[in-house]
Amino acid sequence: MTKAHGAPWPVKFCIQSIKLASIMAILQILQYPDERLHTIAKKVVQVNDVTRKLVQDMAETMYAAPGVGLAATQVNVHEQIIVVDVSETHDELLVFINPEILHRSGEQEGEEGCLSVPGIYENVRRADKISVRALNQQGESFTLDAEGFLAVCIQHEVDHLHGRVFVEYLSQLKQSRLRAKLKKRRREAM
Ligand code: NI
Repeated sequence: MTKAHGAPWPVKFCIQSIKLASIMAILQILQYPDERLHTIAKKVVQVNDVTRKLVQDMAETMYAAPGVGLAATQVNVHEQIIVVDVSETHDELLVFINPEILHRSGEQEGEEGCLSVPGIYENVRRADKISVRALNQQGESFTLDAEGFLAVCIQHEVDHLHGRVFVEYLSQLKQSRLRAKLKKRRREAM
């Protein structure tokens, strides 16, 4: 997910990202309307070093984009893993493996963007508060209560694992206009 009006990266982060660049990898992000974005992700059976390496690369990819959330689906890995960091300082990474939203309450509407749909921001209605259960990078189960923008971000990323992109909440007319616009933009970029 991307923030509609993001602040520029602090210098501290830039230096750190150069240091980490040698051991991490920036992954390619699938672009809507790529069919693979509709793949349903499978549960991670065992959290191991391969999982942790993927999490690292996903985080690096998200920070570099820059974005505030990324689902494995978006980098064409169809396993239930998401990373989120909505902090201003970009140093509060949250990792959810096999996330499950247990409760939703309230309602909020806000502008969302997505690294798979660059440059498009649309209002989406979501639950205001959620409770999510997941595994951490050590394979331990935890439950987190989230509200506001963090809750939006988690719901947006969990949707990706179910093959759903945020623009699919828009009306059919808006969606077909959007697809035409993106097709045109891609043709022009070639
Ligand atoms: Ni997204």
